[in-house]
Amino acid sequence: MAPAGRRLPTPLSGLLFLFLSACVTVSGGAAANRKPNILLVLADDLDVAMGGMTPLAKTKKLIGDAGITFTNAFVASPLCCPSRASILTGRYPHNHHVINNTLEGNCSSTAWQKSQEPLTFPALLHNQAGYQTFFAGKYLNQYGDAKAGGLGHVPLGWTQWIGLERNSKYYNYTLSVNGKPQSHGADYSKDYLTDVLANVSLEFLKDKSSYQPFFMMVSTPAPHSPWTPAPQYQNTYNNTKAPRDPNFNVHGKDKHWLIRQAKTPMSNSSVQFLDNAFRNRWRTLLSVDDLVERLVRDLEARKELDNTYIFFTSDNGYHTGQFSLPLDKRQLYEFDIRVPLMVRGPNIKPNQTSPLPVANVDLGPTMLDIAGYDVNKTQMDGMSFLPVLEGRANTSSWRTDVLVEYEGEGHNVSDPSCPVLGPGVSECFPDCVCEDSFNNTYACVRTVAPSANLQYCEFDDKEVFVEVYNVTADPYQLANIAKTIDQEVLERMNHRLMMLQSCSGPSCRTPGVYDSRYRFDPRQMFGSHRTRLSRLRHVLK
Ligand SMILES: *[C@@H]1O[C@H](CO)[C@@H](O)[C@H](O)[C@H]1NC(C)=O
Ligand SMILES: *[C@@H]1O[C@H](CO)[C@@H](O)[C@H](O)[C@H]1NC(C)=O
Ligand SMILES: *[C@@H]1O[C@H](CO)[C@@H](O)[C@H](O)[C@H]1NC(C)=O
Ligand SMILES: *[C@@H]1O[C@H](CO)[C@@H](O)[C@H](O)[C@H]1NC(C)=O
Ligand SMILES: *[C@@H]1O[C@H](CO)[C@@H](O)[C@H](O)[C@H]1NC(C)=O
Ligand SMILES: *[C@@H]1O[C@H](CO)[C@@H](O)[C@H](O)[C@H]1NC(C)=O
Ligand SMILES: *[C@@H]1O[C@H](CO)[C@@H](O)[C@H](O)[C@H]1NC(C)=O
Ligand SMILES: *[C@@H]1O[C@H](CO)[C@@H](O)[C@H](O)[C@H]1NC(C)=O
Ligand SMILES: *[C@@H]1O[C@H](CO)[C@@H](O)[C@H](O)[C@H]1NC(C)=O
Ligand SMILES: *[C@@H]1O[C@H](CO)[C@@H](O)[C@H](O)[C@H]1NC(C)=O
Ligand SMILES: *[C@@H]1O[C@H](CO)[C@@H](O)[C@H](O)[C@H]1NC(C)=O
Ligand SMILES: *[C@@H]1O[C@H](CO)[C@@H](O)[C@H](O)[C@H]1NC(C)=O
Repeated sequence: MAPAGRRLPTPLSGLLFLFLSACVTVSGGAAANRKPNILLVLADDLDVAMGGMTPLAKTKKLIGDAGITFTNAFVASPLCCPSRASILTGRYPHNHHVINNTLEGNCSSTAWQKSQEPLTFPALLHNQAGYQTFFAGKYLNQYGDAKAGGLGHVPLGWTQWIGLERNSKYYNYTLSVNGKPQSHGADYSKDYLTDVLANVSLEFLKDKSSYQPFFMMVSTPAPHSPWTPAPQYQNTYNNTKAPRDPNFNVHGKDKHWLIRQAKTPMSNSSVQFLDNAFRNRWRTLLSVDDLVERLVRDLEARKELDNTYIFFTSDNGYHTGQFSLPLDKRQLYEFDIRVPLMVRGPNIKPNQTSPLPVANVDLGPTMLDIAGYDVNKTQMDGMSFLPVLEGRANTSSWRTDVLVEYEGEGHNVSDPSCPVLGPGVSECFPDCVCEDSFNNTYACVRTVAPSANLQYCEFDDKEVFVEVYNVTADPYQLANIAKTIDQEVLERMNHRLMMLQSCSGPSCRTPGVYDSRYRFDPRQMFGSHRTRLSRLRHVLK
């Protein structure tokens, strides 16, 4: 294994490895036996439920058709910062403590930098597994904040770092290039961020050391707001509208408080606004599709493609008009928690799909597994799906559920433009329909087993609200069956949820309620578990 303890400027580390590898080559043929490379392309707010993959035709062909597409991929939290923290650490939010998009909620805070950054999978790939590592694009929403080291802070474990200051933008932004600020204006040929990311990634591939495997993470701003398309794409999809699925512009009467406050039908101006956003989201994705194509073609030309795993996914889904919420993420429903996930690479047969449930906490363990690093040595909650990629997993003993956790964001003062709703809410745009509130705080078990395709969620609000969906019978989640479902199923799901909410490492991977190995033992319920169960019984009576 190549030693790679320190972060060094690339040319120097290149030389160092040239030097160190000389002896390795003589004894073992380093280049031939080199570990596989890994490329992760992470989109921002890309859904799979509303056709988000449609503009990504080349990506589908070059990654999905050349490998495997997961049809049940979920995120541990449907919001950028907590979700990205789950990807990087392989942990659920209750273990990485990044609970919202603000510094106070640990988004790129100094506490995160000290306690979590050293445990991220890229840091392990770099410091333990001999990888050169490259990052370009959006990191965590508060990255670059002066209170947390500014742009001078380069997270541990990156050989090359090109990190976007704060949240997604397409023009007029600042990058941290290995700790030094680089400002960009609004000239398409020099500044369009998706294209800049493609160009710096290609430069990395040109300049990298050829004696070490590489890991690249390319994290696009698209299709996040402000949805600025490249000029050549600004007139495409002129007649496209957000899908008018059965859950579009309907009142979610049997759902939690936040959904019940949405105005139905939405105003025409809201509908126009969301249709326009929908078109622009797709337009921005055309540049992502170009980025993927350029990277794959370049790897091919460098004869690296056959030794490179390529992952394509997103940090959360999105909605436009579902249950009359104009547009955002943050909800427990399929449109927000489901993401695209496609992987190609050595030993992955082409044109496969897998219905096995996987979550974003599994990405880190999988990539460490690819690198030959023993995932059991980490404190990650997720599990490697490399056996699934390689077709050697026992699909009948695969895990049957994943945890979703979300802490609602709110403001303690009323929004001046929507005073009627009072304090506690946020994202009230357009039309004073709020997409979030402090009490939009929930946790769910999402079960995908041969015998059940079910979602069970509990809210931490005044009503202790419960939502349950049979996703097989009701893919659009129109009917909350919490009050009609078998009481025993409900209690088992409640038990499983409490167990997962306090899980850590191996206990997060134990068999779920619909696994034949599951044992429900009411004697395990004590203290707060018992209180929650009796509250649940009371509420659902
Ligand atoms: C932020 O992270 C630190 C370290 O993990 C933790 O002690 C603290 O409780 C977290 N803050 C919040 C608001 O969760
Ligand atoms: C970029 O900044 C310039 C100068 O402030 C401004 O005129 C322009 O509208 C901005 N463009 C975008 C797309 O933000
Ligand atoms: C990216 O590189 C191409 C080819 O060198 C160049 O034409 C284009 O202007 C560059 N784009 C940006 C945004 O830097
Ligand atoms: C799309 O719409 C724009 C602006 O409304 C218009 O300028 C353009 O000609 C249209 N393009 C096509 C192909 O219809
Ligand atoms: C809103 O749009 C619908 C359908 O396009 C139309 O029937 C209705 O009159 C419009 N309402 C207003 C207030 O403009
Ligand atoms: C994958 O399937 C598509 C559509 O059936 C086919 O055109 C393509 O050749 C297949 N690709 C591979 C690599 O087998
Ligand atoms: C990791 O732990 C699991 C479960 O205990 C075990 O099945 C597996 O063999 C271990 N992996 C390694 C590389 O030791
Ligand atoms: C696969 O898992 C099932 C269920 O746990 C078990 O009964 C079976 O023996 C396993 N098959 C193999 C080949 O390990
Ligand atoms: C984010 O979480 C922190 C810690 O709980 C809290 O103080 C802050 O108010 C939250 N921010 C928002 C916008 O809800
Ligand atoms: C805002 O309100 C929340 C919920 O009531 C409370 O937990 C938090 O401490 C308040 N924050 C501030 C800064 O007052
Ligand atoms: C949620 O919070 C809002 C705003 O503070 C409040 O009006 C509403 O009653 C709360 N609902 C529940 C179920 O807690
Ligand atoms: C869910 O719906 C399917 C199809 O209608 C049905 O077969 C199954 O029994 C339902 N599951 C539960 C737990 O209600």
